[in-house]
Amino acid sequence: TDQTRELLLSRIRDIADYPKPGVLFKDITPLLADPVAFSALTEVLSAFCESRGATKIVGLEARGFILAAPVAVRAGVGFVPVRKAGKLPGATLAQAYELEYGSAEIEVHAEDLAEGDSVLVIDDVLATGGTARASLELIRRAGADVAGVAVLMELGFLGGRDRLGGTLRGAPLEALITL
Ligand code: PRP
Ligand code: MG
Repeated sequence: TDQTRELLLSRIRDIADYPKPGVLFKDITPLLADPVAFSALTEVLSAFCESRGATKIVGLEARGFILAAPVAVRAGVGFVPVRKAGKLPGATLAQAYELEYGSAEIEVHAEDLAEGDSVLVIDDVLATGGTARASLELIRRAGADVAGVAVLMELGFLGGRDRLGGTLRGAPLEALITL
């Protein structure tokens, strides 16, 4: 509801010039520290998970972990971490992607996702969409289906939705707040 959106928005703090000059950082720690707001967010995302019939939730390191794990517990589905390269000890699938300057790589334990899984990806922010897109590629390469992508905030002016576009293959991108 609009009321929930207002509550969530009121608990996101703007930090100017972080991590570098000219960037307005969206800090979610006030939301996490407010049990009413954090519960409301968990509730909305778990309802989305259930409506999509997802069987697993992927959280994107690091802030995505915080939002996704309670949703997985609430919805009664497994949690799968997608981590920055080099952090997972078992056999992994890796996916490189482009950043504004340079590139990055994310990984998932190959055995955590399989054919028949329908996966909801959760993260805090959709910016350029590069991270989310790489996660969808990983999920599909593991043989699983994408149930959707849910983010707390979408930075609309960065065009992430368009960048994700075709990679979603019709799966919904749900943003609770669009900035
Ligand atoms: C941030 C944010 C998203 C990602 C969005 O993560 O949490 O995961 O960037 O950017 P994109 O849409 O342009 O890919 P970041 O890697 O900065 O840090 P974190 O480990 O704190 O989540
Ligand atoms: Mg992140």
